[in-house]
Amino acid sequence: MSTEQYVERLLGRDADLERVHKTIREHEMPEISIAPGYGRLLTMLVRMSGARNVLEIGALGGYSGICLARGLSDGGRLTSLELLQDYADVARGSLEAAGLGHLAEYIVGDAKANLSLLEREGRKFDFFFIDADKESYPLYLEYAIKLANPGAVITGDNALLHGKTTDPEKSGPSVIAMRQFNERMVTDKRLIGTLLPAYDGLAVAMVK
Ligand SMILES: C[S@@+](CC[C@H](N)C(=O)[O-])C[C@H]1O[C@@H](n2cnc3c(N)ncnc32)[C@H](O)[C@@H]1O
Repeated sequence: MSTEQYVERLLGRDADLERVHKTIREHEMPEISIAPGYGRLLTMLVRMSGARNVLEIGALGGYSGICLARGLSDGGRLTSLELLQDYADVARGSLEAAGLGHLAEYIVGDAKANLSLLEREGRKFDFFFIDADKESYPLYLEYAIKLANPGAVITGDNALLHGKTTDPEKSGPSVIAMRQFNERMVTDKRLIGTLLPAYDGLAVAMVK
Protein backbone atom coordinates (compact mmCIF):
# COMPACT_ATOMS: atom_id res chain seq x y z
CA MET A 1 0.00 0.00 0.00
CA SER A 2 1.36 3.46 -0.86
CA THR A 3 1.52 6.18 1.79
CA GLU A 4 -1.22 7.99 -0.12
CA GLN A 5 -3.48 4.93 -0.05
CA TYR A 6 -2.74 4.63 3.68
CA VAL A 7 -3.90 8.23 4.23
CA GLU A 8 -7.00 7.66 2.11
CA ARG A 9 -7.93 4.60 4.15
CA LEU A 10 -7.76 6.73 7.27
CA LEU A 11 -9.88 9.43 5.63
CA GLY A 12 -12.54 6.78 4.97
CA ARG A 13 -15.49 6.89 2.62
CA ASP A 14 -17.25 10.12 1.72
CA ALA A 15 -20.62 9.82 0.00
CA ASP A 16 -20.60 13.38 -1.42
CA LEU A 17 -17.13 13.07 -2.93
CA GLU A 18 -17.80 9.55 -4.23
CA ARG A 19 -20.91 10.95 -5.95
CA VAL A 20 -18.72 13.55 -7.70
CA HIS A 21 -16.39 10.86 -9.04
CA LYS A 22 -19.38 8.83 -10.28
CA THR A 23 -20.94 11.89 -11.96
CA ILE A 24 -17.63 12.77 -13.63
CA ARG A 25 -17.41 9.23 -15.06
CA GLU A 26 -21.05 9.32 -16.21
CA HIS A 27 -20.42 12.61 -18.05
CA GLU A 28 -17.15 11.28 -19.50
CA MET A 29 -15.27 14.21 -18.00
CA PRO A 30 -11.55 13.92 -17.19
CA GLU A 31 -10.84 12.22 -13.85
CA ILE A 32 -8.50 14.91 -12.58
CA SER A 33 -10.11 16.09 -9.34
CA ILE A 34 -7.82 17.00 -6.47
CA ALA A 35 -6.54 14.03 -4.41
CA PRO A 36 -8.51 13.14 -1.26
CA GLY A 37 -5.70 14.04 1.16
CA TYR A 38 -5.36 17.49 -0.35
CA GLY A 39 -9.14 17.91 -0.50
CA ARG A 40 -9.22 17.48 3.27
CA LEU A 41 -6.32 19.92 3.56
CA LEU A 42 -8.28 22.55 1.58
CA THR A 43 -11.20 22.20 4.00
CA MET A 44 -8.81 22.59 6.93
CA LEU A 45 -6.98 25.59 5.47
CA VAL A 46 -10.21 27.44 4.65
CA ARG A 47 -11.50 26.76 8.17
CA MET A 48 -8.20 27.54 9.94
CA SER A 49 -7.70 30.79 8.04
CA GLY A 50 -11.29 31.90 8.75
CA ALA A 51 -11.66 32.71 5.04
CA ARG A 52 -15.02 34.25 4.12
CA ASN A 53 -14.51 34.74 0.39
CA VAL A 54 -12.90 31.85 -1.45
CA LEU A 55 -11.95 31.90 -5.14
CA GLU A 56 -11.46 28.66 -7.08
CA ILE A 57 -10.01 28.65 -10.59
CA GLY A 58 -11.05 25.41 -12.33
CA ALA A 59 -14.25 23.72 -11.05
CA LEU A 60 -14.49 20.50 -13.12
CA GLY A 61 -17.10 18.34 -11.31
CA GLY A 62 -17.13 20.14 -7.97
CA TYR A 63 -14.87 17.86 -5.91
CA SER A 64 -12.56 20.65 -4.72
CA GLY A 65 -15.57 22.98 -4.58
CA ILE A 66 -17.18 20.72 -1.96
CA CYS A 67 -13.91 20.56 0.00
CA LEU A 68 -13.53 24.36 -0.06
CA ALA A 69 -17.19 25.05 0.79
CA ARG A 70 -17.04 22.64 3.72
CA GLY A 71 -14.41 24.86 5.33
CA LEU A 72 -16.46 28.07 5.10
CA SER A 73 -17.83 29.61 8.24
CA ASP A 74 -21.17 31.45 8.51
CA GLY A 75 -21.59 34.05 5.78
CA GLY A 76 -18.76 32.57 3.71
CA ARG A 77 -18.95 32.22 -0.06
CA LEU A 78 -17.20 30.23 -2.79
CA THR A 79 -16.73 31.87 -6.20
CA SER A 80 -15.65 29.38 -8.84
CA LEU A 81 -14.29 30.23 -12.31
CA GLU A 82 -14.79 27.53 -14.94
CA LEU A 83 -14.18 27.63 -18.68
CA LEU A 84 -16.96 25.26 -19.70
CA GLN A 85 -20.67 25.75 -19.02
CA ASP A 86 -21.29 21.97 -18.90
CA TYR A 87 -18.62 21.50 -16.23
CA ALA A 88 -19.89 24.44 -14.18
CA ASP A 89 -23.39 22.90 -14.30
CA VAL A 90 -22.03 19.55 -13.09
CA ALA A 91 -20.04 21.26 -10.31
CA ARG A 92 -23.09 23.25 -9.22
CA GLY A 93 -25.13 20.03 -9.15
CA SER A 94 -22.47 18.34 -7.00
CA LEU A 95 -22.51 21.15 -4.45
CA GLU A 96 -26.31 21.15 -4.41
CA ALA A 97 -26.37 17.38 -3.85
CA ALA A 98 -23.96 17.89 -0.94
CA GLY A 99 -26.21 20.58 0.59
CA LEU A 100 -23.67 23.32 -0.18
CA GLY A 101 -25.20 24.83 -3.32
CA HIS A 102 -26.30 28.03 -1.55
CA LEU A 103 -22.64 28.83 -0.78
CA ALA A 104 -21.35 28.80 -4.35
CA GLU A 105 -21.46 31.04 -7.43
CA TYR A 106 -20.07 29.93 -10.80
CA ILE A 107 -18.62 32.34 -13.34
CA VAL A 108 -18.26 30.67 -16.73
CA GLY A 109 -15.65 31.53 -19.34
CA ASP A 110 -11.90 32.01 -19.58
CA ALA A 111 -10.61 32.68 -16.07
CA LYS A 112 -8.19 35.32 -17.35
CA ALA A 113 -11.05 37.53 -18.56
CA ASN A 114 -13.09 36.87 -15.43
CA LEU A 115 -10.19 37.62 -13.08
CA SER A 116 -9.77 40.94 -14.85
CA LEU A 117 -13.50 41.55 -14.33
CA LEU A 118 -13.27 40.68 -10.62
CA GLU A 119 -10.36 43.12 -10.31
CA ARG A 120 -12.33 45.91 -12.00
CA GLU A 121 -15.26 45.19 -9.68
CA GLY A 122 -12.94 45.60 -6.68
CA ARG A 123 -13.66 42.07 -5.39
CA LYS A 124 -11.30 40.75 -2.69
CA PHE A 125 -10.75 37.19 -1.47
CA ASP A 126 -9.23 35.46 1.56
CA PHE A 127 -8.44 32.13 -0.05
CA PHE A 128 -7.49 31.00 -3.56
CA PHE A 129 -7.32 27.55 -5.11
CA ILE A 130 -5.64 27.54 -8.52
CA ASP A 131 -6.36 24.37 -10.51
CA ALA A 132 -6.99 25.24 -14.18
CA ASP A 133 -4.78 25.43 -17.32
CA LYS A 134 -1.20 25.05 -16.12
CA GLU A 135 0.36 27.54 -18.56
CA SER A 136 -1.59 30.34 -16.90
CA TYR A 137 -0.52 29.59 -13.31
CA PRO A 138 1.97 32.51 -13.10
CA LEU A 139 -0.73 34.90 -14.34
CA TYR A 140 -3.31 33.41 -11.97
CA LEU A 141 -0.86 33.91 -9.12
CA GLU A 142 -0.42 37.59 -9.99
CA TYR A 143 -4.19 38.03 -10.04
CA ALA A 144 -4.51 36.19 -6.73
CA ILE A 145 -2.02 38.56 -5.10
CA LYS A 146 -3.88 41.56 -6.56
CA LEU A 147 -7.27 40.27 -5.38
CA ALA A 148 -6.01 39.15 -1.95
CA ASN A 149 -6.93 40.57 1.41
CA PRO A 150 -3.86 40.76 3.70
CA GLY A 151 -3.07 37.32 5.12
CA ALA A 152 -4.91 35.51 2.32
CA VAL A 153 -3.95 31.92 1.52
CA ILE A 154 -3.07 30.87 -2.04
CA THR A 155 -2.94 27.20 -3.06
CA GLY A 156 -2.12 25.60 -6.42
CA ASP A 157 -2.51 21.95 -7.40
CA ASN A 158 -0.26 19.83 -9.66
CA ALA A 159 2.95 21.63 -8.69
CA LEU A 160 4.96 18.55 -9.75
CA LEU A 161 3.19 17.84 -13.07
CA HIS A 162 3.65 14.10 -12.55
CA GLY A 163 7.44 14.44 -12.39
CA LYS A 164 7.85 16.83 -15.32
CA THR A 165 8.54 19.85 -13.11
CA THR A 166 11.72 18.31 -11.72
CA ASP A 167 12.83 16.57 -14.94
CA PRO A 168 15.59 18.65 -16.61
CA GLU A 169 14.71 17.02 -19.98
CA LYS A 170 11.23 18.61 -19.92
CA SER A 171 10.77 22.17 -21.15
CA GLY A 172 7.22 22.48 -22.54
CA PRO A 173 5.15 25.60 -21.86
CA SER A 174 3.23 24.04 -18.93
CA VAL A 175 6.47 22.88 -17.32
CA ILE A 176 8.14 26.28 -17.68
CA ALA A 177 5.04 28.00 -16.30
CA MET A 178 4.78 25.61 -13.36
CA ARG A 179 8.45 26.07 -12.44
CA GLN A 180 7.93 29.84 -12.51
CA PHE A 181 4.78 29.52 -10.40
CA ASN A 182 6.45 27.27 -7.82
CA GLU A 183 9.49 29.51 -7.58
CA ARG A 184 7.32 32.58 -7.00
CA MET A 185 5.13 30.78 -4.46
CA VAL A 186 8.23 29.97 -2.41
CA THR A 187 10.51 32.99 -2.98
CA ASP A 188 8.31 36.00 -3.85
CA LYS A 189 8.83 38.67 -1.19
CA ARG A 190 5.08 39.32 -1.02
CA LEU A 191 4.44 35.71 0.09
CA ILE A 192 5.48 33.09 2.63
CA GLY A 193 5.15 29.76 0.87
CA THR A 194 6.19 26.17 0.42
CA LEU A 195 5.51 23.10 -1.72
CA LEU A 196 3.99 19.89 -0.39
CA PRO A 197 5.41 17.00 -2.42
CA ALA A 198 2.75 14.30 -1.83
CA TYR A 199 0.44 13.24 -4.65
CA ASP A 200 1.09 15.62 -7.61
CA GLY A 201 2.35 18.43 -5.37
CA LEU A 202 0.43 21.27 -3.76
CA ALA A 203 1.88 24.77 -3.50
CA VAL A 204 0.70 26.73 -0.46
CA ALA A 205 1.49 30.36 0.34
CA MET A 206 0.23 33.19 2.49
CA VAL A 207 0.11 36.82 1.35
CA LYS A 208 2.05 38.96 3.83
C1 LIG B 1 -7.88 19.93 -12.93
S1 LIG B 1 -9.48 20.41 -13.41
C2 LIG B 1 -10.12 21.12 -11.91
C3 LIG B 1 -10.38 20.11 -10.85
C4 LIG B 1 -11.16 20.67 -9.68
N1 LIG B 1 -10.47 21.83 -9.13
C5 LIG B 1 -11.28 19.64 -8.61
O1 LIG B 1 -10.27 19.34 -7.95
O2 LIG B 1 -12.39 19.13 -8.41
C6 LIG B 1 -9.18 21.84 -14.39
C7 LIG B 1 -10.43 22.62 -14.75
O3 LIG B 1 -10.02 23.90 -15.24
C8 LIG B 1 -10.86 24.27 -16.30
N2 LIG B 1 -10.14 25.24 -17.13
C9 LIG B 1 -9.16 25.00 -18.04
N3 LIG B 1 -8.76 26.14 -18.61
C10 LIG B 1 -9.48 27.14 -18.05
C11 LIG B 1 -9.54 28.55 -18.23
N4 LIG B 1 -8.76 29.16 -19.12
N5 LIG B 1 -10.42 29.24 -17.48
C12 LIG B 1 -11.22 28.62 -16.58
N6 LIG B 1 -11.22 27.29 -16.36
C13 LIG B 1 -10.36 26.56 -17.09
C14 LIG B 1 -11.16 22.96 -17.01
O4 LIG B 1 -12.32 23.06 -17.81
C15 LIG B 1 -11.28 22.00 -15.83
O5 LIG B 1 -12.62 21.93 -15.40
